[in-house]
Amino acid sequence: MKKISIGLIGLGNIGTGVVKLLQQNEKLITQKLGARLVLKKIADINITSPRGIKIDRSLLTKDARDILNDPDISIVIELMGGYEPARTFVLEAIQNGKHVVTANKAMLATYGNEIFPAAQHRGVDVGFEASVGGTIPIIKTLKEALVANKINSIVGIMNGTCNFILTKMTDEGKPFDVVLKEAQDLGFAEADPTFDIEGIDTSHKMAIVLSLAYGKKVNLKKIYLEGITKISALDIAFAKELGYRIKLLAIGMLKGEAVEARIHPTMIESEHLLANVNRNYNAFHLVGDASGPVFLFGQGAGMMPTASAVFSDIIDCARNVLHGISGRVPLRSINETGMKDIRLIPMDDIETKYYFRFSVLDRPGVLSKISGILGRHNISLATVIQKAREEAGPVPIVMTTYKAREKDVREALKKIDRLDVVKDKTVIIRIEDEL
Ligand code: HSE
Repeated sequence: MKKISIGLIGLGNIGTGVVKLLQQNEKLITQKLGARLVLKKIADINITSPRGIKIDRSLLTKDARDILNDPDISIVIELMGGYEPARTFVLEAIQNGKHVVTANKAMLATYGNEIFPAAQHRGVDVGFEASVGGTIPIIKTLKEALVANKINSIVGIMNGTCNFILTKMTDEGKPFDVVLKEAQDLGFAEADPTFDIEGIDTSHKMAIVLSLAYGKKVNLKKIYLEGITKISALDIAFAKELGYRIKLLAIGMLKGEAVEARIHPTMIESEHLLANVNRNYNAFHLVGDASGPVFLFGQGAGMMPTASAVFSDIIDCARNVLHGISGRVPLRSINETGMKDIRLIPMDDIETKYYFRFSVLDRPGVLSKISGILGRHNISLATVIQKAREEAGPVPIVMTTYKAREKDVREALKKIDRLDVVKDKTVIIRIEDEL
């Protein structure tokens, strides 16, 4: 039986999962591939800490170049994460004619426009199923299953940490800081959670997904981004009262030739499938022009779920090796040489519904002052909630709107926040109830 040698760079959580999965399902993998996958070398800067699995010590090396320069290894699995030296190693693997499998969304979102053309030019494949949505086959769905569709919209919950925090805040009514601490204690949030809670991780994933959905190059920095740090228990409670749940959504919508791309906390109807994706789960709701709605759900992180996605790419690459081919499926859905820049709609020009929470003094005429300014900016009100005052000091007034233009909303709120009866910056959360 033919053998295919693979090398793994990065023996962290996911890397360990990959080794474990090969050990656990080796017979099944061999049967499906019709060849044996041999894990020839594993590189990591730490080769002494126990990982809870049996690994032949002779496979371990501290030098990634033992893998990159080994002519017998035809597939390199990069699971070290971070920008450098991951980028350099991936480019070297490509130059050395090796297929690459990676879960590194930060690297791909930032350096994809360098890595993918290099791979196409060298005639090797780069698999990255595990970079977005953990175990969920979103990359294959976009590149292969829905290939003949115009993707009218793609909306995702792409960060398990944020979803875990928002779920707990919703179900237990606790404030953000308390829940973040609990999530850290449970291992669902990193010690430095910035990448997750500020939405940066989601923006990396969104950049990758958009490039596949539209076959275009995406400038990560142009995707509108708001994290979840300003979401309060009070807004979650009002959302419930209005029949919504708050989720950190990455929203991509095709508008003619341009695309609306934004990431922000969003109120969605509590009945919607996405509203019921809870805890650390991820999900994608896509609408293709031929397929109609497609919903994908699963674990967006974790050792074995992510290792499952890594293996889907390893086996694809191994099949290439067996058949002596590459590039059967273009790396980012279309030939790299034909890739244009995506045209993103400026945030000022998007139109959606809004939730506002004003913090105001409870005095006669306040409501009419606020609604007057909104009206003069073409913002039409759908609902208004004001609770009776319980103590001295500002009270919340909540309003939801019909569809309005973001630019008008910002200008109106700037004026409202300057009123002397308004005591705090107005909270704004976008509502999407037509997904
Ligand atoms: N940190 C990510 C999350 C998992 O919380 O979803 C890896 O992409």
